[in-house]
Amino acid sequence: MSRILTGIQSTGIPHLGNILGAIQPAIALANEANNDAFLFIADLHSLTTIKNAGERREYVHGVAATWLAFGLDTDRHTFYRQSDITEVAELTWYLSCFTPFPMLANAHSFKDKSERLSDVNAGLFTYPVLMAADIMLYDADFVPVGKDQLQHLEMTRDIGTAFNHQYGETLVIPEARVVENTKLVPGIDGQKMSKSYGNFINIFDEEKALRKRVMKIITDSKDVSEPKDPETCNVFSIFRLVATEVEILEMRRQYTSGGYGYGEAKQALFVVLISRFAEERRSYTTYMANPELLEKELTRGAEKARTVAREVIRKVREKLGY
Ligand code: ADP
Ligand code: TRP
Repeated sequence: MSRILTGIQSTGIPHLGNILGAIQPAIALANEANNDAFLFIADLHSLTTIKNAGERREYVHGVAATWLAFGLDTDRHTFYRQSDITEVAELTWYLSCFTPFPMLANAHSFKDKSERLSDVNAGLFTYPVLMAADIMLYDADFVPVGKDQLQHLEMTRDIGTAFNHQYGETLVIPEARVVENTKLVPGIDGQKMSKSYGNFINIFDEEKALRKRVMKIITDSKDVSEPKDPETCNVFSIFRLVATEVEILEMRRQYTSGGYGYGEAKQALFVVLISRFAEERRSYTTYMANPELLEKELTRGAEKARTVAREVIRKVREKLGY
């Protein structure tokens, strides 16, 4: 059994790109045989940028409801909120005393912002140490991450190794598992779908709003009668990621034969989104309307996570002479 662990940012409600590109593959990976998965919502990290408490709560709930709606098995896996296990802050302090200043000064997450140092808070600077604590507090063997997080994983390993060098084998040194994002979902403007570009589709929107959003997808101005190229069309690019083989073939045929307008293609996409995600939409809405159900799941996850965390902290404190 190997323990895989990963943190999920809570800086917004997950959009279609996050779901197809990250959430569904992560759930599939967690479900592989022999994996014991720890998945947590990184709501302490979000404090480096989000200061509004209501916003934080909404995003944490939105993220939790999405993972649960997409079928994360919380009986088998450990799904929790980072901030519920306060031991992580304690370990962060211990590890920060084994973290060389130049290592942090060299982190991309900090360097990208370091042109305006007055905008950088210490939390952003020490972000990689909290991440190291997230991982080593739970004896994680593997950490599935995107390429952008590899440097943080190297730092985690270096910090853990420095600690073990001083006190003997104590912390489990994790390995990164790079997950290539094979499904790049385009947004309504054809660029990569992203929170920061404001071009995302929220599949949990009410039908009317979702339809309106889909109708906003940018296309060229070809007339209904003209044949169209599916390969260069934003509507088709999204459709092919969510529809069945048969539906995709059919839409491709209609594009190339002409007499098929973009309005119709958008309507077809809307219908597929509503039907393919009917179950998830229902489940998400139920969770969001009943936050106590979410809290119950997160509390159960926190209890499981805390058992591991306490034992690691106990060992670490003993080694440190506390
Ligand atoms: P955003 O760009 O909306 O801020 P994040 O950077 O928070 O999204 O990404 C969270 C996860 O979702 C990452 O694993 C990322 O690879 C994945 N992801 C984000 N946008 C897309 C997209 N358009 N297509 C596929 N995966 C995506
Ligand atoms: N920094 C990660 C990201 O931006 C999120 C994260 C926080 C994380 N703690 C972690 C990922 C621990 C893996 C392991 O995506």
